[in-house]
Amino acid sequence: MMPVSMVGRAGELAELDRAWSTVAGSRRSAPAVAVITGEAGVGKSLLVAAALDAFAPRPAVVLSGAARVHSPAPYDWLAAVLTGRDTSGLDLPPDALAWLAQQPTAPRERYAPGTLLRLAVRVVRLLVGAGPAVLVVEDLHALDPASLNLVGELATAADLPALLVVATRPAADAVAPDLAVRALARLCGVRGAVRQHLGPLLPAEVAEVLTQVYADPRPSGRLVRAVWRRTGGNPYLLTELLAAHAGRGPEALLRPPPPAPSRAARSTPAPSAAVVPRPAGPVDAELTGREIEVLGCLVAGMSNKQAARALGISVRTVTVHVSNLLRKTGSASRTEAAIWAVQRRLAVPTPVDG
Ligand SMILES: Nc1ncnc2c1ncn2[C@@H]1O[C@H](COP(=O)(O)OP(=O)(O)OP(=O)(O)O)[C@@H](O)[C@H]1O
Ligand SMILES: [Mg+2]
Repeated sequence: MMPVSMVGRAGELAELDRAWSTVAGSRRSAPAVAVITGEAGVGKSLLVAAALDAFAPRPAVVLSGAARVHSPAPYDWLAAVLTGRDTSGLDLPPDALAWLAQQPTAPRERYAPGTLLRLAVRVVRLLVGAGPAVLVVEDLHALDPASLNLVGELATAADLPALLVVATRPAADAVAPDLAVRALARLCGVRGAVRQHLGPLLPAEVAEVLTQVYADPRPSGRLVRAVWRRTGGNPYLLTELLAAHAGRGPEALLRPPPPAPSRAARSTPAPSAAVVPRPAGPVDAELTGREIEVLGCLVAGMSNKQAARALGISVRTVTVHVSNLLRKTGSASRTEAAIWAVQRRLAVPTPVDG
């Protein structure tokens, strides 16, 4: 399947572009800040990538990093930024650089935390140089406390000609929720900070995506509405649904996905794997038959009331199943649980929506 190009988000792109022009036009000496929040798979990373692509003039420097490891290590954002970068010309103690870059040869515990934070800020300053630069912090919710601290320092650093763009799931999903809340408050407190909360795609935007894939015949209004309901307008779920039914006609989208390939046959990742949200939670949660049915309803984007009607059980019982599902799959929200199911190609039954 051809990759789908971004739909909607024109207002957000324009606002990010305006933030960039305040930096690129050197109208401010402190960084400009943009914070993009939204549920898993809602399109934060794609928006950041599209905005970066469109920035004019081009940024002289882009420093981009995300939490890379499952149990985040200190200064993981900076270590990600430093990966593969030639730092030999930087005027910094080599062992400090090795420590911040998480090189295995780095000496342990030689620097006090305050010193390390100052050194980390200095590394970024040296890399930014005269700028103008864009600093991209992906997945702030998954970052370690030292990185959160560093990001907060950078947002308020004097004479740093940069736009700091932060993408994050809601703080409740964070590795350290209290620290994430504090870091976000600090970022949003910067003068002129741009805050964007991305919601799901609207039915018309889902229609646009479907038209990209199925130009002829044009997808019917009935199909668009059904796909919108089934995915809750979540772009990740939508692209996964499209990938699962690639090569078949649009009406196939309403049928259950083809049988999941066996584990052994799945060693090569699906084409969309480069952009899939980081899998969270256990690989194989022990779900009961009823929980799997309820999960099918979540994948279909149903409310508890709709799920109760589809399965012929009470709303209260659905609520209990949903909370057990969240716990067992390690998900923070219904969308995350649905994504969990889709990522594992779980054969969840597709309920008939009423
Ligand atoms: N506006 C959009 N139009 C079309 N496709 C989109 C849109 N937004 C996101 N997608 C697609 O949905 C998928 C998920 O998007 P993305 O990775 O940007 O989500 P995210 O919010 O960064 O997720 P996470 O919280 O896991 O980091 C990608 O395949 C992306 O290409
Ligand atoms: Mg992302």
